[in-house]
Amino acid sequence: MTQQRAQIFLDSNRTIAEISPLLFGGFAEHMGRCIYEGVYDPKSKHADENGLRRDVLDALRAQGYTTIRYPGGNFLSGYNWLDGVGPKEMRPRRRELAWQSIETNQFGTNEFMLFCRAINAEPMLGVNMGTGTIQSACDLVDYCNTPSGTYWSDLRAKHGFPEPHKVKYWCVGNEMDGPWQMGHLEAHEYGAKAREAAKLMKWMDPSIKTVLCGSSNDQMPTYPEWDRVALEEAWEHMDYLSMHYYAGNRENDTPSFLASAVQFEQFVDTLEGVLRYVKAKKRSKHDIYLSWDEWQVWYKGDPLQGNWTEAPHLAEEMYNLEDALVVGQWLNVFLRKSHVLKIACVAQIVNVISWLHTRGDELLKHPSFYVFQLVSNYARGQALDVLVKAPRVETKKYGDVPVLDVSASHDEATGQGAIFIVNRSLSESVVTDFVWQDGRNPTVCEAWQLAGDDPKALNTWENPNHLVAKPIAPPRVSDGRATIQLPPLSFTALRLSPR
Ligand code: AHR
Repeated sequence: MTQQRAQIFLDSNRTIAEISPLLFGGFAEHMGRCIYEGVYDPKSKHADENGLRRDVLDALRAQGYTTIRYPGGNFLSGYNWLDGVGPKEMRPRRRELAWQSIETNQFGTNEFMLFCRAINAEPMLGVNMGTGTIQSACDLVDYCNTPSGTYWSDLRAKHGFPEPHKVKYWCVGNEMDGPWQMGHLEAHEYGAKAREAAKLMKWMDPSIKTVLCGSSNDQMPTYPEWDRVALEEAWEHMDYLSMHYYAGNRENDTPSFLASAVQFEQFVDTLEGVLRYVKAKKRSKHDIYLSWDEWQVWYKGDPLQGNWTEAPHLAEEMYNLEDALVVGQWLNVFLRKSHVLKIACVAQIVNVISWLHTRGDELLKHPSFYVFQLVSNYARGQALDVLVKAPRVETKKYGDVPVLDVSASHDEATGQGAIFIVNRSLSESVVTDFVWQDGRNPTVCEAWQLAGDDPKALNTWENPNHLVAKPIAPPRVSDGRATIQLPPLSFTALRLSPR
C-alpha cells in the first residue's frame, strides 16, 4: 500500500443550500418480502400489537428515515387502494401482475400509517396512474386527508381511523415512461393525465405536494425528452419531478463503479437544466424540485417473478463493501446537489434490494446500512461547497476522477457540522489535511469509519459483523487545521462541534 496526500478546504460561509430532511427517505413496495416478512409479520416473535416487526422498526428508527414512499413501484400501477382498507378478513386475495405474486392485502393504507407513526416518518403515498383513474386518486386523498363528514373520510373513521392521516406528499404514478409499466403512457398522455389528477387532488386538499414521474433512469431512449414533455403538460400542478436509478458493477470494473458519483451528478445536472428550461419556456414563477425517490445498487440478478406465491424471495441482493462506498457517494451527491434535490428514497427499506434482511426472526445488516445511518443522523443545516484537492484515479468509464469523494454540512444554529469522505482508491491510503478557511477551530467529537481491503467482502448470516462502521480516533484540530489518514476502500464520517 502506498500513500497519497489530499487537502479538504471548508468554509461555513460557502453554502450550497439547506439540507432537506426528506433526502433521508426510504421506499416500501408490495414486492417480494418487503412488506410481508419485512415490515409486517404478525407471526414473528418480534411482532407488535399491529403486526409490525419490532426488530425491523428499531433498525429503521436507528437509520433516521424521515419519509417512506409507498405502496410502489411497479405494484402501484395495478393497485386498487380499496382492496387494502377495511376488515382484514374481507380483503381480496389477488394476482399481482407486476411481480407475478399473490397479494393478500393484509397490509394497506391504514397499516402503512401506523408503520410511519411507529418510525416517526412522513408518509409519501402513490396514486395509480396505470390502471387507476383520476377519480380513484382523488378518493384516496379524500379518504386520507378530509377530517370528517364526507363518504370517504367517514369510511376511514369506520375503519378505525377517526383522525385524518394528513398525507402531504403524493406521487402521481410510477415510472410511466416504462413499457413494463401496467398502463404505460406516452409522455404527453401521461403529462395530461397527471396534470388533471394533481389538479383535482389539490382541489380536494390544497396543502398537498405532488410528484410527477420523470424518466425511469438516464438510459431510457426517451430520456430526457420524456421529462420535458411531461413537465410542460403539468408544470403548474406539480412540485417535484421524480428520478429513479439503480447502479451496478455489471462488468466487474470496480474503479469505474467506485466513480459512480460522476454519473449521479450528471443525471441531476441534466434534469436541473430541463427544469430551468421548462420554467423559462412557460414564463412561470413556479418552482419544481427533484425527488430521487428510487435509488440503490441493484444488478446481481435475483428472481423478479413470484410464480403466483405470497411474499416470494425477489431481488434479495446482498451488498458488499464496494456497494456501500457507492451508497456513500450517492449521499454525498445528495448534499452537493441539495439546492435542487429535496426528496430521496432508498429502494427499498427491507429484504427487497435492501441493506436490511430478515430470515425467520433474525436480522442482517449489510455494510451500506451503516453508511446511510451515519449520514442521515449527522447531516444537518446547510450543505457546504467543499473544495477538494486530491490526486486523481483513472477509470475506464469516467476518465480520471479525484480519489476522494466528499460532502460536508454545517448547522449555523448549533455550530455543529459533519464531513463525509469516500476514499475510492483500491490500494492507496490518503493522508488528508482539513483546512477551515472561516477562522473556525472546531472539535471533531466523533469519527466513524467503514473500511476493508476486499471490495467484494460482505456480511453474512454466519459472520454478520464483518463490515460495520467502527469508531476511530478523532483527528485533533489546532489553528483550524487537522490531519487524518484515510485507508483505501473506506467511508469516513466526522462529526464536528464548536469548541
Ligand atoms: O424498486 C423496484 C422497482 O424498480 C420498482 O417497482 C420500480 O419502480 C423500479 O423499476
